[in-house]
Amino acid sequence: MTHKPIRKAVFPVAGLGTRFLPATKAIPKEMLPVVDRPLIQYAVDEAREAGIEQMIFVTGRGKSAIEDHFDIAFELERTMAERGKSLAVLEPTRLGPGNCAYVRQQEPMGLGHAIWCARDIVGDEPFAIFLPDEFMHGSPGCMAQMVKAYNEVGGNLISVLEVPRDKVSSYGVIDPGERAGALTEVKGLVEKPSVADAPSNLIISGRYILQPEVMRTLENQEKGAGGEIQLTDAMARMIGNQAFHAVTFDGNRYDCGSKVGYIEANLAVALEREDMADEVRSIARAMLE
Ligand code: G1P
Repeated sequence: MTHKPIRKAVFPVAGLGTRFLPATKAIPKEMLPVVDRPLIQYAVDEAREAGIEQMIFVTGRGKSAIEDHFDIAFELERTMAERGKSLAVLEPTRLGPGNCAYVRQQEPMGLGHAIWCARDIVGDEPFAIFLPDEFMHGSPGCMAQMVKAYNEVGGNLISVLEVPRDKVSSYGVIDPGERAGALTEVKGLVEKPSVADAPSNLIISGRYILQPEVMRTLENQEKGAGGEIQLTDAMARMIGNQAFHAVTFDGNRYDCGSKVGYIEANLAVALEREDMADEVRSIARAMLE
């Protein structure tokens, strides 16, 4: 059986980023760099690698730097060209009009509401979602691994990973069923449960492949955890009607929504870069001594 291809991805980027103030007062948190690429660029690259063609950004006030980032930078490019500099470094930042769309989430009503804001652009086809502050680092990328699984089982898929039991309350948590390799059946989902009520320590880690029915489900989704319209609650209501699987990512995940996770991501990427790994390693060693 063949499944409809995943051609579109939604990037909810309207969040305020208060955890990184004052850095994020005037720039979106998604534009914070890991070494020299903004977080949002890694997410878009991961989407492209998975064969996704159209990037849909759900933005808000103060997020125009993201649009500028993926546009042509006319003055910059002309000046660089005149000086004989290569423009190759800017190549991944180019999203032509057919490859991107922007829609505004006017009020902060939660992740579920943000996704629902993209319903007309997504239309009637399965689509991916990326939460850019979950930095999924590996080769092949997390979404490429998920698309591979999707081509086998279809339906809905979410990426999951294990966290220490006392951390589950910050996340969406799955009630796991049977496991086969990287795939686990999802029997239930709870957003931000108490430690005592959590059905497992497997959390949703910010990558999704969902069927378009989720938009209809979100349409009448009541407020959940934190008084917000939760994507997790809408997905939970789809279980039983449609296939639902979790994929355990073979790679590393850095929580760039937290400061320590962000530093960790920078170090990890720097230590893999040929142009700086040796120097960074010796600096880090010296600092630790
Ligand atoms: C969101 C989702 C949650 C998921 C998490 C991953 O929560 O609602 O299910 O586990 O992202 O980072 P948020 O971080 O927006 O509170």
